[in-house]
Amino acid sequence: MSLQKHNKDTYPAIRSFVRHHGRMTAGQRHALGCYWQDYGIDFSRQVLNLKAFGDFSQVVLEIGFGNGETLVDMAASYPDILFIGVEVHRPGVGRTLMLAQARDLKNLRLVEYDAVAFIDTMLPANCLDRVQIYFPDPWHKRRHHKRRLIQNAFCQQLHRVLKLQGLLHIATDWFPYAEHCIKVLVSMDNYRNLAVAGDYVEKPDYRRETKFERRGRRLGHEVKDLLFAAT
Ligand SMILES: C[S@@+](CC[C@H](N)C(=O)[O-])C[C@H]1O[C@@H](n2cnc3c(N)ncnc32)[C@H](O)[C@@H]1O
Repeated sequence: MSLQKHNKDTYPAIRSFVRHHGRMTAGQRHALGCYWQDYGIDFSRQVLNLKAFGDFSQVVLEIGFGNGETLVDMAASYPDILFIGVEVHRPGVGRTLMLAQARDLKNLRLVEYDAVAFIDTMLPANCLDRVQIYFPDPWHKRRHHKRRLIQNAFCQQLHRVLKLQGLLHIATDWFPYAEHCIKVLVSMDNYRNLAVAGDYVEKPDYRRETKFERRGRRLGHEVKDLLFAAT
């Protein structure tokens, strides 16, 4: 089995996540043991050759895919696109492996690691057609805002790996976070907001409803989609 070690000391000090060592089901454990070799990318210091995964028309990266429902559904709907998902929540990775294997997906790869480190270390420049970040942890408290994923430095990092005109798609049900994201991205002169009227776009058809989205809607939150192009 080629799972990386899960030593918390290997993660960078600044984190956008808390690693909950949630209970894993037998199915998730089994999937991690059996299917990682088909879908997993082990974290290493080596830059990836994405062509090695096959001949795909586009490459899409999803950061924080949670239980993988949406990611697997999208990968099944767009077999000509290579989807790479990054998530630190191990039971979520296990669940996603179960779903991917059940649908015999050939266009999905998973990374169980901090997305910030993965992107910085393993992705070559200008390799992505889209980065999707759906319902990132909003870190509500002001003193935690520094843990938000969407910050100028990280968006610069994303810009490095996006192709010219590649898309950064964010969805959130926490309006202050949506406003924060707009503020960050509008302040950067290498992103262009694709919203036609106002700051937000209609939900693109390709985005499927996520678990956190359902939760947000149950709580009465309005969902905002942001779509920016790298320029
Ligand atoms: C609020 S959940 C949303 C999950 C899923 N996108 C959804 O909408 O159901 C945010 C997820 O992002 C993951 N996450 C946060 N920071 C991350 C990072 N730096 N690298 C990888 N995953 C991260 C968390 O583990 C968590 O599963």
